[in-house]
Amino acid sequence: MAVVSSEKTKELTRAQFIKLSGIVYRESGIVLNEKKYNLLMARLVRRMRKTKISSVSDYIRLLSDNNDEFNEFIDEVTTNHTFFFRENQHIEFLVNTLDNNKPLKIWCAASSSGEEAFSIAVQLLEYSFKFSIFASDISDTMLKKCRKAVYPVQRVKNVPRSILYKYFQKGKNRWKNYVRVKPEVRQHVQFAKYNLLSDKPFDTYDIIFCRNVMIYFDLRTRKNVVNALCRSLNPGGYFFTGLSENIHGLEHGLKTVLPGGYRKP
Ligand SMILES: C[S@@+](CC[C@H](N)C(=O)[O-])C[C@H]1O[C@@H](n2cnc3c(N)ncnc32)[C@H](O)[C@@H]1O
Repeated sequence: MAVVSSEKTKELTRAQFIKLSGIVYRESGIVLNEKKYNLLMARLVRRMRKTKISSVSDYIRLLSDNNDEFNEFIDEVTTNHTFFFRENQHIEFLVNTLDNNKPLKIWCAASSSGEEAFSIAVQLLEYSFKFSIFASDISDTMLKKCRKAVYPVQRVKNVPRSILYKYFQKGKNRWKNYVRVKPEVRQHVQFAKYNLLSDKPFDTYDIIFCRNVMIYFDLRTRKNVVNALCRSLNPGGYFFTGLSENIHGLEHGLKTVLPGGYRKP
């Protein structure tokens, strides 16, 4: 395996790569194969700079001694890319299909920085649904962003203007390129840390979104995650995955209702 850093101490040997990718896999389920060597290296170097540690072996030692740094490292290697109204056909399907008189309990199970949960919330509010959303993620950094609910304007470029004006506050002065989700939307969404791999669901839901995270998992992890989530889905409830993910071949007993959309009989 090639060495990518000029500094000898920042070399990541094959054994260290295997060790670190094993840590990531066991903690998050994310598979970092050898094609992800540069990605892991880049993110590792970032953490080493932050912690002012110059050798990979010292950093690996720190990971086993320091729980905070362990969490920071897992945060660093997760991919958090998301934006408002991403793969919005799932939400359009819900508002067109469901009765807005029946209160909905929704779980957004890998919510990253919150855009997905708030996209769901503003549209359900727009169509006068009664609902609560539990939004979770493995990353503390992302959960902080969720709770702040402040986003650069580029993240909301897919949000229709009428919804933007109604449910978002425009920043002023140094925040002029940011928007904040209004409190009347935020009050419908609760955020908490939840690891899809190791935590046990504490409630049941009418709708579960688990989108654009299972692409990073192997088949065994996908199977376990889907089984656990399906157990917390109420009969007749809906389950959504990302459009490029597929849960075919897993024994989940769900009926496909649209691409990436399933219903529990
Ligand atoms: C690419 S984002 C997807 C965000 C959003 N669901 C969407 O579709 O835009 C993937 C998220 O999954 C989270 N994640 C990765 N592994 C996880 C795990 N084992 N448990 C919970 N969340 C996890 C990451 O922290 C990241 O925020």
